[in-house]
Amino acid sequence: MFETKIGQIVFRNPVMTASGTFGMGDPFRDFYDYSQLGGVVLKTLTPRPRKGNPPPRLYETPAGLLNSIGLENEGFDVFEREVLEKNPFAEWKTNVIVSLAGDEEGDFVQLASRCGKLPGVSAIELNLSCPNVHAGGATFDSEQEAVYRIVSEAIEQSSLPVFVKLSPQHDLVRNARVAEKAGAAAVTISNTYLGMAIDIHRKSFVFARKFAGFSGPAVKPMALAHVYRVSREVNIPVIASGGIASGEDAAEFLLAGARLLQIGTMGFVKPTLAVEVVDFLERFFGDVAPEPLS
Ligand code: DOR
Repeated sequence: MFETKIGQIVFRNPVMTASGTFGMGDPFRDFYDYSQLGGVVLKTLTPRPRKGNPPPRLYETPAGLLNSIGLENEGFDVFEREVLEKNPFAEWKTNVIVSLAGDEEGDFVQLASRCGKLPGVSAIELNLSCPNVHAGGATFDSEQEAVYRIVSEAIEQSSLPVFVKLSPQHDLVRNARVAEKAGAAAVTISNTYLGMAIDIHRKSFVFARKFAGFSGPAVKPMALAHVYRVSREVNIPVIASGGIASGEDAAEFLLAGARLLQIGTMGFVKPTLAVEVVDFLERFFGDVAPEPLS
């Protein structure tokens, strides 16, 4: 299988899990050995513990999954203590990427500086794009100035490469260019799409926050187009995230210009999907990474 390098980090293959769906590792422990993947992205951490949004938090539609989790997590302090005491990532033998978010810009910067001290962590993914926290969807990447400030300051404080996860709600090409200018090592295209569901019998919104993040195979054609466009406009690697449900889907993203791939929602449906994608890519492309289509 072909390797991918981002800066000094070597990914043994292009397949990773997406943030959120992988939790802190537990959901997939019984299904496969993480060393078979290029990397794993942990669930987003914030400086303070967050309870997340009121139920319901998940809603399946025939087209895909809506989620309104709201960045539930134990907070960075608890995570940091456990990693320092137990060094859990040593045995995973893969790249561990820590996803970070916050209530304000300074939170990203503060957490980025703390990640460099954690054993076994390869990189940071700044989640500028959660649709479930602020009114009306993702905010941190709604303004390009904010993207530039957060990314450049986080990089200044961090000894690790910084990836930036962007929202399809905002101009992905513009934001990817800004992230590149600020020094990002890669951009993740993209977070979930802004979605909604209405209960016609109760005449109310399904989610307390009205909006939710939409993901699954239905977003793949849109994600593919975004990855194709962004990868032509920036000179940093594009990490594709959006509806991968098979090895064939993964191959399409590589041909569209993605350097790495994240498997999210469909890993819930089929927990072994990520390793099946690795097997397929190995058989299909062998040891040479495919040339993206022009
Ligand atoms: O769809 C999403 N849901 N994207 C995120 O970035 C976070 C997650 C949540 O916790 O709501």
